[in-house]
Amino acid sequence: MKFFIDTANLDQIKEAEALGILDGVTTNPSLMAKEGIKGADNILKHYVTICNMVSGPVSAEVISTDYNGMVEEGKKLAALHPNIVVKVPMIKDGIKAIKWFTDNGIKTNCTLVFSAGQALLAAKAGASMVSPFIGRIDDGNWDGVQLIEQIVRIYDTYGYQTEVLAASIRSSLHIVKCAEAGADIATCPLSSILGLFSHPLTDIGLEKFLADYKKNNG
Ligand code: E4P
Repeated sequence: MKFFIDTANLDQIKEAEALGILDGVTTNPSLMAKEGIKGADNILKHYVTICNMVSGPVSAEVISTDYNGMVEEGKKLAALHPNIVVKVPMIKDGIKAIKWFTDNGIKTNCTLVFSAGQALLAAKAGASMVSPFIGRIDDGNWDGVQLIEQIVRIYDTYGYQTEVLAASIRSSLHIVKCAEAGADIATCPLSSILGLFSHPLTDIGLEKFLADYKKNNG
């Protein structure tokens, strides 16, 4: 399973990239706002900065909600860097725009997906990736990981090439559950990635090995 980091924070991207296990980045307008990146030009520049920091795909979201607007915006985003993936919302015009991007060789990430039916539409339009928001589903007392399993099953049955990108990850356990469910990618906050390192027995074991080495070697 590929690991993406879900942030527009450059320090966090740098830290995740330095681990050597980062495969890409996802952003959204809320994450850009959180970092205080405002103004169309600054936002575009920020995407380029991120693309230059990592070697994998970087999702950049359109803010238009009409077909023509999304196509124009997406073309502009895609021209920024070869690693840009145009992130398009799961609405009727979004699906039409994804079909246009697919036909014109531009990679897409269909975002704000909360059901298998929506994921089916995204795959039929040829989306490169589909983003089910599992944390937000869990927040509503539904089972986000179950949705990942369902989408993976449907895509496998019909041989859709769309990658299942588990989004809205809230914990390290979510990452493991998404891996078990067969997600192709998980996009995660840095804290959830770092949480995967932790196990008290690792710490205790390492401490003992080092102590025994010291005792034996002075
Ligand atoms: C997906 O690409 C989104 O950026 C993200 O995962 C949303 O997560 P949230 O529910 O924590 O806002």
